[in-house]
Amino acid sequence: MEAFSYRDGQLFAEGVALPALAQRFGTPTYVYSRAHIEAQYRAYADALDGMPHLVCFAVKANSNLGVLNVLARLGAGFDIVSRGELERVLAAGGQPDRIVFSGVGKTRDDMRRALEVGVHCFNVESTDELERLQQVAAELGKKAPVSLRVNPDVDAGTHPYISTGLKENKFGIDIDNAEAVYARAAELQNLEVVGVDCHIGSQLTSLPPFLDALDRLLALTERLATRGIQIRHLDLGGGLGVRYRDEQPPLAGDYIQAVRQRIEDRGLALVFEPGRSIVANAGVLLTRVEYLKHTAHKDFAIVDAAMNDLIRPALYQAWMNVIAVQPHEGDTRRYDIVGPICETGDFLAKDRELALVEGDLLAVCSAGAYGFVMSSNYNTRGRAAEVLVDGDQAFEVRRRESVQELYAGESLLPT
Ligand code: LLP
Repeated sequence: MEAFSYRDGQLFAEGVALPALAQRFGTPTYVYSRAHIEAQYRAYADALDGMPHLVCFAVKANSNLGVLNVLARLGAGFDIVSRGELERVLAAGGQPDRIVFSGVGKTRDDMRRALEVGVHCFNVESTDELERLQQVAAELGKKAPVSLRVNPDVDAGTHPYISTGLKENKFGIDIDNAEAVYARAAELQNLEVVGVDCHIGSQLTSLPPFLDALDRLLALTERLATRGIQIRHLDLGGGLGVRYRDEQPPLAGDYIQAVRQRIEDRGLALVFEPGRSIVANAGVLLTRVEYLKHTAHKDFAIVDAAMNDLIRPALYQAWMNVIAVQPHEGDTRRYDIVGPICETGDFLAKDRELALVEGDLLAVCSAGAYGFVMSSNYNTRGRAAEVLVDGDQAFEVRRRESVQELYAGESLLPT
């Protein structure tokens, strides 16, 4: 579904006009559509209907409590990578037994807390982590459910920074060593082997890499079965891409259909960890043009959002669509849309043909995933507000940071 559309010359989020939101909450502000988030989640859940499954939203993509709560109300699970994300999910009403805990660097504290609340599964990424988890679980007198995150060595064909399933990546356990590590896991008293996990990368726009990885995981579960290790679930991670420009990623329903056909009647439950495909196109970053600056070489639109608010263009050379909230007549120019930060890399978009005047509002599209969550306070800029739109209502689900908050934890040296 399209969460954002034009009516009467203005861009709307569901039933709310964006200029009204800018007036009420200021800019820069992230604006999310509840209906879009729900529809994207349901595309996964509906396609998995009739078989045991968990759709675990990858909290790293958007960890706002309001957003997590929308998903928790639908019965979503969550994929977390830190104690902080765990506490967010619980605060948002998520159920602990629907949480999978991923990440290469889990601390003892992380493990303790996750065991206390009773997560569904730990996705373990190394033998040392396995031994540590055994120790912590033994101290607490608990049994930790584990999957090993295997690295199936498939090329996801995506940006190198967000590709994770190749042998040279830091993630997971080489699939060729996985049987030996599973054998060790099965020996450990306080662990219970429940699954096999992988995540091969993000923003994948075709199915073959996912299906190659799946085939390798299925072959592994069969080899494990001959050793008496029964796998109950396969976790295929996240990674389904979205359209930023002209990509044509597969639909979640088609992806899941293809997976279901391949696992047939093996009795395996399926777990997915989608992040981007649930929230990316549910959000825009609303920003206002502060200045137009015309030089001999370039035309710049200096806006009030910057790389600290949205780092994807600077970090991954990501192309994000930028559209006028109230398009108007006038001469167009090819603008670089840049922020106020003192770095040449501080841009949101380059070479965009727009007719602009000072004070115009712009929407940076597809910003619901890896937008706010990657923001920082660089240049002592408070982080943006976040607003969740539900029909014709808008809720401020995170207020803008004040300047005082930014240095509240700091102190002067004693005199
Ligand atoms: N599961 C694991 C173990 C992951 O590492 C990730 C993402 C996901 C699930 C969710 O993947 P998704 O469905 O969102 O593709 N900041 C980058 C993306 C980094 C992705 C990291 N891992 C960006 O802005 O493109």
